[in-house]
Amino acid sequence: MAAAMAVAGERPGRPAGPGPGPGRGEEPFSPSVLGTREHWDAAYERELQTFQDIGDAGEIWFGEESMVRIIKWLEKQKVPHDSPVLDIGTGNGVLLIELAKSGYTNLTGIDYSPSAIQLSEKVREKEGMSDIKLKVEDFLAPSAELSGFEICIDKGTFDAISLNPDNAVGKRKQYVRSLCSVLKPEGFFLITSCNWTKEELLNEFREGFEILEELPTPKFCFGGRIGNSVTALVFQRKKVRPSILDKLD
Ligand SMILES: C[S@@+](CC[C@H](N)C(=O)[O-])C[C@H]1O[C@@H](n2cnc3c(N)ncnc32)[C@H](O)[C@@H]1O
Repeated sequence: MAAAMAVAGERPGRPAGPGPGPGRGEEPFSPSVLGTREHWDAAYERELQTFQDIGDAGEIWFGEESMVRIIKWLEKQKVPHDSPVLDIGTGNGVLLIELAKSGYTNLTGIDYSPSAIQLSEKVREKEGMSDIKLKVEDFLAPSAELSGFEICIDKGTFDAISLNPDNAVGKRKQYVRSLCSVLKPEGFFLITSCNWTKEELLNEFREGFEILEELPTPKFCFGGRIGNSVTALVFQRKKVRPSILDKLD
């Protein structure tokens, strides 16, 4: 992962990484430009230029293994190849390409950065995967047509949103609301994060979602304690009860 594009947040008073999480409504991270659209626009402008110059699609967040982990889980779960899948904050769209290569046929990627979508379109064209749908959309204000997904995947996007300098708590809540509106009841949500621990993510998504599985990620040992630098979880959206959606308002 290129250092210039790292998305790990800094916790006030202690370095980024696993540890005790924030309480309800607290701001766990120092605000950062990594949480702004301007940052991503500029980053993907550069990546677009690099792609045009040398054909390199750029950053694969959390490495190739993060894509393998997701695809293996879908395969183990025997998710039908035509299930509608949404990649939230798709960036260069490489995950969608890998999903298509593994046989998935109903793939959509959104990103609020027009330059990210331009890049993902170019990557899609190069790979000859014209069936993948790509759209500029802000996940925090999803269009009505973004609905009915059986699988939603997030690799680093909730992390980025959590660093927004302007009302990150409200934006995280809106993220959960948006997820509830695009993901079918009992649909699966796969999240990979380098900012949030398992316990923190359980807390963030406790309204409307239940944990199904923690996917194994590389471990590190520091000061005699073992931790994970990346958390990968699979949630399932609970069956809809109107009271759950009310609670999110
Ligand atoms: C850390 S990058 C990860 C990109 C991609 N998921 C990957 O794994 O390579 C975070 C992505 O989230 C996108 N993003 C951040 N906030 C967003 C929002 N509100 N709506 C849609 N995309 C967003 C950024 O533009 C960026 O592409």
